[in-house]
Amino acid sequence: MCGIVGFVGIDKASSVLLEGLSKLEYRGYDSAGVAVIDKDHINVIKCKGRLANLEKKLESHPLNGCVGIGHTRWATHGEPSDINAHPHSNADGTISVVHNGIIENYVELRNELKAKGYKFVSETDTEVIPQLIDYFYDGDLVDAVMKAASKLQGSYAIGVICSKEPGKLVAARKDSPLVVGVGKGEYFIASDIPALLNHTRDVYFLNDNEFVVMDNSGVKILDENKKEIKRDIYHVTWNANAAEKGGYDHFMAKEIHEQPKAIKDTMTSRIMKGKPVTLDNISLTKEQIDNIDKIYIVACGTAYHAGVVGKYAIEKLARIPVEVDVASEFRYREPIINKKTLMIIISQSGETADTLAALREAKAKGARVIAVTNVVGSTVSRETDDVLYTWAGPEIAVASTKAYVTQLIVMYTLALFFAQNKGTLSDSEIENLKAEMLTLPEKAEQVLENEDVVKDFASKNYAESDMFYIGRGLDYAVAMEGSLKLKEVSYIHSEAYAGGELKHGPIALIEKGTVVIAGATQQKLVEKMISNIKEVTTRGAKVLAFALEGSKEVKDVVDSVIYVPKVIDVFAPVLSVIPLQLLAYYMAIKKGCDVDKPRNLAKSVTVE
Ligand code: G6P
Repeated sequence: MCGIVGFVGIDKASSVLLEGLSKLEYRGYDSAGVAVIDKDHINVIKCKGRLANLEKKLESHPLNGCVGIGHTRWATHGEPSDINAHPHSNADGTISVVHNGIIENYVELRNELKAKGYKFVSETDTEVIPQLIDYFYDGDLVDAVMKAASKLQGSYAIGVICSKEPGKLVAARKDSPLVVGVGKGEYFIASDIPALLNHTRDVYFLNDNEFVVMDNSGVKILDENKKEIKRDIYHVTWNANAAEKGGYDHFMAKEIHEQPKAIKDTMTSRIMKGKPVTLDNISLTKEQIDNIDKIYIVACGTAYHAGVVGKYAIEKLARIPVEVDVASEFRYREPIINKKTLMIIISQSGETADTLAALREAKAKGARVIAVTNVVGSTVSRETDDVLYTWAGPEIAVASTKAYVTQLIVMYTLALFFAQNKGTLSDSEIENLKAEMLTLPEKAEQVLENEDVVKDFASKNYAESDMFYIGRGLDYAVAMEGSLKLKEVSYIHSEAYAGGELKHGPIALIEKGTVVIAGATQQKLVEKMISNIKEVTTRGAKVLAFALEGSKEVKDVVDSVIYVPKVIDVFAPVLSVIPLQLLAYYMAIKKGCDVDKPRNLAKSVTVE
């Protein structure tokens, strides 16, 4: 996820671009850059780090010109660096491009272009775009952009300028956001509305596979056949703050709603119908996998809870013994690690001190380490040879939501990859599981459509001071995460217990009116869970269950049920965690808590 802006007008482009980018830093902030046309050539200034670095650089290298593009980056392909920062250009610097999205076939395109003599300087997927446009350019930028776009697979919102057509900016979108701002004699593109609001409130929303051409005379929206599309102007009435959050009141709500896309992006090019499961560039042979005698999954907080699901999935599907541990415990308990150990580190930020220490310990003892992280260029990603990224985009709210579901997707991908290589599942079983995984984005969307049931429950129960979360198997793993979310954002005390364990102590705390959230998505365990639910209802507990659609037996024994779409047991956590995230969110809102920045917590914990 990155932010792009573009400007055509009479003011100095660089200041307008910088100001627009400052409103998009929430989309990424590891590097930034601008390209501005000055008479007949393009000047590009870009650098690693926050926008402030770019501002500084521009003070000593001021740019003239009224047409330009800008970018703030959230690295996906290639670490954050000056070279990998956008804009990217063709060899003679006559075409510059900013891009938000992922070009899935960039390796193929890169190779084709290299065979034609094109040279690449960055590690990015984006660099193929200006090179492709260059390849197709024959005096008409719009034609060349359209031809290049027809070759791109994946997602993109792009802004393109060309010094041979100096007054013009061309943009296009597919599966990445892009809006067009219409001012008085000045025109804009941006990934999100806040970047425009200081200049105009009149915008066009673009649809996939549409193109935009703007110059001093105005803006045209074109379809793939260059036919002009008439679009009504939308007048923005929200304030900039709300718009930055995509119309949501808080980043946490926005991030919960971004989960279907984050799940989809994280499966991209790893889970595909009819193709083997792949782990990006990680080479792990069958022999190496057969040689693994134990896997440790080590992480903190929410990432640890994703590890618990990972343990279930890997043991069930690939039959390799897995131990999962919190990093602060792991590092001091003298774990038995040798060359046959595989360690999986999970960390959204890639900077958590205890997780890093566990990684270093395992490496020093000769274990192979695979890191699962959301941040390209983070310390964890730099200290391991093997990294699997979760493509959740920047997570701003302190309580982790979309990072968690993408961590689950990576855990399933690893489990299937191991199963495929060890032969613990047949080809058709793997095909079925992949097909099921590919339905998760749509099913997650359906869960979000039922948000009101959770909201209603929260509004009736937010005054509680203690709650319990119970579940068996994977529902227990989800219960732990649900309970953590509630504590983090609403400050309500809660405990997660394995359904069968409650009677060994904590049941003493159940009394009339105690709220218990019970998970019952695991078909084989539903009956056992119903017995556990009855144990608490007979003692007066008020139970909200989460279960799979059609599971009527649960409804009869609880006060209310949140249904999630039917799904194979092992994948249920991806869907059942969503109502629990929403529950924590709405309880916190009702209590008036600062959900995005809960007291005493930090997003990235870099101390022991
Ligand atoms: C902090 C955050 C949690 C997060 C944990 C691990 O406690 O508040 O949301 O789960 O750190 O962070 P990591 O970046 O390593 O996943």
